[in-house]
Amino acid sequence: TIKACLFDLDGVIVDTAKYHFLAWKRLADELGINFTEDDNEKLKGVSRVRSLEIILELGGKTLSEEDFNSFMTKKNDWYLEYVDQMKEDEILPGVLDFLKALKAEGVKVALGSASKNAMRILNLLNITDYFDAIIDGTSVSAAKPDPEVFLKGAEATGTTPAECVVFEDAEAGVEAAINGGMRVVGIGEEEALGKANIVVPGFANFSVEDLKKALA
Ligand code: BG6
Ligand code: MG
Repeated sequence: TIKACLFDLDGVIVDTAKYHFLAWKRLADELGINFTEDDNEKLKGVSRVRSLEIILELGGKTLSEEDFNSFMTKKNDWYLEYVDQMKEDEILPGVLDFLKALKAEGVKVALGSASKNAMRILNLLNITDYFDAIIDGTSVSAAKPDPEVFLKGAEATGTTPAECVVFEDAEAGVEAAINGGMRVVGIGEEEALGKANIVVPGFANFSVEDLKKALA
């Protein structure tokens, strides 16, 4: 049985990767580091701190702690400039119907995201009320693939890991779910997410009924 569905945010509910890219690109330019959309793939599901570390590694640069922190703040300010323009129509296709169907069936819904901006984004998209629990970058200490974020989601929804299904677009997120003893639906391409129980391109042609059948 499925008693709770735990959703990653970035790349599952909304495509924020393009805004992360624009902000990191602007920062990399300022640092004189070449940063491409391909490089951006490496930042999916990765924390803000680790993202900047990866970019510095790409450019073979180091920063003092003070500069590191001020560059992170700068990136986030730029990111939020883009994010704050977001409207409900940026919710990825099929997501809203899927959430509504879960609610109708009494399945608990939780967010499991690494982002510290998750609440702000859910509010902008007007979907905060769909979530029985919100676990985000402000409430976890260990990054995916550590299962902490999803285990907290199970706890907050009063369910056991075996009763939960996680939806993830990042490899580290799929691993976090598996590490937590949960079933997982990969959102994206089979190639990167092969460890998931099933992989679908998105929610556009995927219903709660399809989910149940696939996991039965
Ligand atoms: C993840 C994104 O959900 O959140 C990462 O996939 C991002 O790209 C991470 O770095 C942290 O997000 P934020 O909003 O706290 O900078
Ligand atoms: Mg993601």
